[in-house]
Amino acid sequence: MPRPSRTPARPSSGKNPSSGGGKFSHRPSDYRTRQPAHEYELEVLPGLEEVAATELSGAKLARDQRGLRFWYPGDPERLTRLRSAVAVYRVKAWDVPRPRGLLGHQQLGELTDFLHQVAEVGGHRSFRLSAAGKESGVMQRLAEELQSGLELPHDPQEGELLIRLRPETGGPGWEVLARLTPRPLSARAWRECNMGGGLNATIAYAAHKLAGQRDEDRIFNPMCGSGTLMIERALMGPYDALVGVDISPDAVACTQQNLRAARRQIEVAQVDALETGLPARSFDLIIADLPWGDAIGNHRSNNILYPRFLEEMHRLISKHGRLCVITHELRLFETVLREQDRWNARELFQVYSGGHHPKAYLLGKK
Ligand SMILES: C[S@@+](CC[C@H](N)C(=O)[O-])C[C@H]1O[C@@H](n2cnc3c(N)ncnc32)[C@H](O)[C@@H]1O
Repeated sequence: MPRPSRTPARPSSGKNPSSGGGKFSHRPSDYRTRQPAHEYELEVLPGLEEVAATELSGAKLARDQRGLRFWYPGDPERLTRLRSAVAVYRVKAWDVPRPRGLLGHQQLGELTDFLHQVAEVGGHRSFRLSAAGKESGVMQRLAEELQSGLELPHDPQEGELLIRLRPETGGPGWEVLARLTPRPLSARAWRECNMGGGLNATIAYAAHKLAGQRDEDRIFNPMCGSGTLMIERALMGPYDALVGVDISPDAVACTQQNLRAARRQIEVAQVDALETGLPARSFDLIIADLPWGDAIGNHRSNNILYPRFLEEMHRLISKHGRLCVITHELRLFETVLREQDRWNARELFQVYSGGHHPKAYLLGKK
C-alpha cells in the first residue's frame, strides 16, 4: 500500500473556489446602485441544483422551463471557477421576432459588444453558432458578420465561444446565450486521461461537498478509476491524508497521469480494495464510485463485490467515520445494506447523467 499523502501547504490565496467574493441574486433590482448585473444561465446535471445554489453563495436560482437563471453583478471570472456546474452562459434577449432581426445595424452592434465582453472573460479563440436551422442563409450571414466584428474565426465544429440562439423564455424576442468558458466547466483541465466509466467531475465535487470536508480527515478512495474523486477532493482544500487504489494497472496509470496534470502528489497503488492489509479504523472518510455493472463490472460480479466491499469498509473506517458510496446498482446496494444491518444510511442525491441515474449515499456505523 502507498503511504497516504498529506495535504500540501494551503494554496497561497487560501481561497476555496466556492468562497470568492460577490453576491448572487435572482432579482436584478437589488443591484441598481452597483455595477450593472448580467443575467446568466447555469447548466447543471439534474439532481445537483442544490449544490450549485450553495456554490453560488446560497442564492436561489430562478428555474424556468429552459434552465437555472440568476443575476450577478460581480466579476464574471468567479463564475469560470464554479465546480458544480456543467457550463455557465451569459444571456441577453433582443426584441426581434426572428433571428434575421439580429442582423439589423443596432442589434448587430449590441450583439457584437455582448459577445466581446464574454470573449474577454473566457479568452476564446474561435466561435460557433448553435441554433435550429444553423445552416440557413441568415445564420451564415450572422456567422460572417460576427467573424469580422469579433475578429475571431468561425469554427462550426470546435468553436470555443459557443453561441446559442433560441426564442426568448417567456417573451416575444430571441435570446442569445454565450458560454463563458472555452470548454464546459465539467471538462476539468486536469483530465488528460479518460476511462470508460469515469465519473463526471461535478458529481465528484457534489459528493465531497455533501459528505463533508474536514481538515483532519484521513481519506481513502478505493476503486479510484481515473482518479476523479481523489483529484476533486485534493483541489477542494486541506485534509490529513489521502490515498487511492484500483485493481487495474491501467486505472492506476490513468490516475497518475491526471494527478500530474493537477499538480498533486498523491500516491495511488494497484491493490485490491478488499485486501489492502491496512489496520482497522484507518480512515475517517471512505469515498467510492463502485462498478455500476455496465461499463465496469457486471451484475453478477457486483452481487459478490458489494457485500464484501461493505464488510471491508466497515473494518477500515473509524468509529465516527463516513462512507460515501456512488452507485447505479441501487437495488443491490440497498438490499445489501438492509441485510448487513450495520450502517446508518441516507441518500445525498440522485443525479441524471449520460443516461444513468446514480445515487450517492452517506453511511455511518450503527
Ligand atoms: C466505476 S469505476 C470508477 C471510476 C472513477 N470514479 C473515475 O472517475 O474514473 C470502478 C473502478 O473499480 C475498480 N475495481 C473493481 N473492483 C476492484 C477491487 N476489488 N479493488 C480495487 N478496484 C476495483 C475498477 O478497476 C474500476 O476502475
